[in-house]
Amino acid sequence: MESFVHLRKGVTPRRLHADLDGLKDDELGRGGFTGRTANLYRTGDPTAYRSEGPLRPTDALTSALAPEDQSAATGSPMLLYSNVDCRIMLSRRAEQMPFFVRYVDGDLLIFVHAGSGLVETEFGPLRYRPGDWLYLPKATTWRQVPDEAGTWLMIQATEEFRVPPAGQIGRHFPFDPAQAEIPEPQAMESDGRDEYEVRLIHEGGPTSLFYQHHPLDVAGWRGDNFAFTFNIADYNVITSDSVHLPPTVHLFMQAAGVYVMNFLPKRAESVPGTERVPWYHRNVDYDEIAFFHEGSLFGAPMPPGLISHAPQGVHHGAPEKARERARRKFDDYDRIEWTVIAVDTRRRLTPSPEILAADLGQH
Ligand SMILES: [Fe+2]
Repeated sequence: MESFVHLRKGVTPRRLHADLDGLKDDELGRGGFTGRTANLYRTGDPTAYRSEGPLRPTDALTSALAPEDQSAATGSPMLLYSNVDCRIMLSRRAEQMPFFVRYVDGDLLIFVHAGSGLVETEFGPLRYRPGDWLYLPKATTWRQVPDEAGTWLMIQATEEFRVPPAGQIGRHFPFDPAQAEIPEPQAMESDGRDEYEVRLIHEGGPTSLFYQHHPLDVAGWRGDNFAFTFNIADYNVITSDSVHLPPTVHLFMQAAGVYVMNFLPKRAESVPGTERVPWYHRNVDYDEIAFFHEGSLFGAPMPPGLISHAPQGVHHGAPEKARERARRKFDDYDRIEWTVIAVDTRRRLTPSPEILAADLGQH
């Protein structure tokens, strides 16, 4: 519950996230960006630290990671980060699955970073392409048939993924559901093999079920629990000219303790003095994952496939030189051309050994 008390002490710009006059804008906020907040105007860069101990940001290039499924058709994705609410995985599958799969511990929300292909599901086949979100309800049986080697960022949430409450924007938030691709049922014929493996992915697993008939044999379906894809090109970005809006306006889907956002190309804030780069913060209540799909920030390229983790309580933010550049180039750019996928989690995430080994050590 927000408080009516909102104080102002010492040197503070009149506008939020604007006219800093050399000070550093650092937000100490509860509940992500929606709760009680203090904006601290500091003289030093709060990200200029040396760290010891396990709580530190990590940055890794997913193109340098080799999940089993990249080289072996029978292989699995690689775990990147996890907590009790979610598991974040990387798949770089190049060949079609010789088995079917069923994630029985939670819903799957998959971002297609690279590659196109087909996902056969119990609801029918779905084509996928870069920029797609693919949603697969918990315990759905499916199989990936890629056209070529690709890269998927996979988020498994223990509780259901749902669309966030729309609030005042009503059906305009967070996206037009009529633009989701919904599969048409297609009962698959037997391809002549003796049995079909359905691999159940779960804690302590896997377990395999073997069927003598094709497991994707659904002739029809009805209801409100189904697979779909939604491409980020169809996502409506909410903007303001006078203030850089918080990440919560880009919330796409959420599960208990897991919030998924799309930061997409948009018109940059245009009122002079407005900060266009997100302010410093220390994620008081959330760990943050940022996955860089493509694009640039005011002419500075962003490395595609970079995945960054900022643990709660530790400051992060764009480097000071990027902020100075954004102010200096204010009149040169009128758009932000980034495409970043973000996952915020209420509980601390544990990085996998593979992520720690691939950490670029930028901090
Ligand atoms: Fe952040």
